[in-house]
Amino acid sequence: MSKDEKSNPVEAGKGLDIGTAFIYCAQKRGSQVAFRTQRNAFFDIEYSEFTRGILEKSNVKYVQSKDKLYVVGDDAIKFANVFAKNTRRPMKNGVLSPEEPEALPIVEMIIKSVLGSPSKKDELCYYSIPGMPVDANFDTIYHENIIKGFLEKWGYRSKPINEGLTIVFSELVEDNFTGMGISFGGGMANVCLAIMATPVFSFSVARAGDWIDEQVARVTNEPVSKITTFKETSLNLKKPESQMTRIEQALSIYYNHLIQYVLDEIKKEITNSPRIPQLEKPIPIVISGGTASPPGFLERFKGILERTDFPVEVREARLAPHPLYTTAKGALIAAIADREGQGS
Ligand SMILES: Nc1ncnc2c1ncn2[C@@H]1O[C@H](COP(=O)(O)OP(=O)(O)O)[C@@H](O)[C@H]1O
Ligand SMILES: [Mg+2]
Repeated sequence: MSKDEKSNPVEAGKGLDIGTAFIYCAQKRGSQVAFRTQRNAFFDIEYSEFTRGILEKSNVKYVQSKDKLYVVGDDAIKFANVFAKNTRRPMKNGVLSPEEPEALPIVEMIIKSVLGSPSKKDELCYYSIPGMPVDANFDTIYHENIIKGFLEKWGYRSKPINEGLTIVFSELVEDNFTGMGISFGGGMANVCLAIMATPVFSFSVARAGDWIDEQVARVTNEPVSKITTFKETSLNLKKPESQMTRIEQALSIYYNHLIQYVLDEIKKEITNSPRIPQLEKPIPIVISGGTASPPGFLERFKGILERTDFPVEVREARLAPHPLYTTAKGALIAAIADREGQGS
């Protein structure tokens, strides 16, 4: 045990964010929350003993099959960029991908590498699940049960939690867990309106960062991985339109479209629902997720919100302090609250 581990022992309870683009885990270490992450992607290369030896020596994470080596996680996108190809993805639109059935052992390995073993028998792990998609014809039942199976096989006690609700848990403590959480992720955007930690409605749309990357790759005729890397490292949505390159301009257009699309879906959900309670006060909106990370995103969101005839009064819209970690942290808070509630 290291000095740090001795003075900051881990507390039981984990929060797990199973996203289409990244997997995150949060756990409490003393008064701090510690996070681990891995990209949810893989890249296959022809098997040879020689290549396998090189991967091994370079500490590259891989899974081996009869005739292939699958480089997994963060290294997969590096390989993809070198070979000017795209990574393969075990998940699509928030759930296990029907297009990659043989990727199940791969996603299992990626999740295990982020989550680690339980610190005690039946350690409680809350894992995030997307809301029902309103614009796509699938449900999350299969996905939820497969993940539950992994967690229980590794010795955890597991509970699913809606992804939008995790933002409310993570960021709206001072508002008595009342307000709206929106995550703009890779495969989906998730929305939850909660009153006192109880969801009034939650749903997802099957459009987010991956959708932006695909559209931009198509209109600029570039590989998707190249667009993803550019977007994650260099995109600044505050840059004046006149100074933008063709790729930046396309990213800017699809970002605006995505924000408007999500706000319109929320509007529909509120106006069509017969059981929306009267809200006593204007609500806060908290935004999280990787797609909300580039500079200028919040300003764009606020601008489009102002121009949208939104059916509830909004007190403020703000970005979560660590947009990539919000869901894992919210899931951890739920796990700790649950454990305290049970007095164990
Ligand atoms: N710094 C960044 N700037 C812009 N986009 C980012 C950044 N980091 C991650 N992303 C994008 O955010 C998405 C992943 O966000 P995340 O919240 O982890 O999604 P998911 O929950 O779907 O895995 C991807 O589309 C990724 O390309
Ligand atoms: Mg996520």
